[in-house]
Amino acid sequence: MVKQSGHIVSHEGVVCRKDREALLGQDARTIWLTGLSAAGKSTLAFALEKSLTSRGYVCFVLDGDNVRQGLNKNLSFSIDDRSENIRRVAEVARLMNEAGLIVITALISPFTADREMARRIVGRECFREVYVNTPLAVCESRDPKGLYGKARSGALSEFTGVSSPYEPPESPV
Ligand code: ADX
Repeated sequence: MVKQSGHIVSHEGVVCRKDREALLGQDARTIWLTGLSAAGKSTLAFALEKSLTSRGYVCFVLDGDNVRQGLNKNLSFSIDDRSENIRRVAEVARLMNEAGLIVITALISPFTADREMARRIVGRECFREVYVNTPLAVCESRDPKGLYGKARSGALSEFTGVSSPYEPPESPV
């Protein structure tokens, strides 16, 4: 990673997060969904977004598959790149929270240390971790994108649950 010059200063606006939350009539939160591929994270995230939106809340979903086609298109599934994926999404979630939005993320985020980093970046007070605890056998039987099949045959490497670990949250909150 490129090192910062150290000559960076912060600029404060006069409109703060509380002002924006008051304008929107909501408390900004980041709901962090974690779980295996095909666990149902994206389905739940978009269903929650729809439900909250229909009740007048302003939300946005940051979905791993989607973010990896734009902001994070240069990242692989190595341990370091997954960590960078989480860091960037957490920083975006923090900015969106600062704008007063409710953010729902749908990322495998397989490593405890990376989820802890996300919690630190977003801020403990508004970060909520949700474990979409669908067993591997169920995810594998769904295999909507055929990726488990490819991972089992060796055509796809570093696949979570098959050839790359998933560390479940011990007490998600
Ligand atoms: S994370 O591990 O860095 O949090 P992320 O949620 O962004 O992963 O992306 C996961 C999605 O990428 C999966 O749902 C799957 O569709 C796709 N994918 C492609 N290759 C892999 C892989 N090696 N491991 C896991 N998911 C993969």
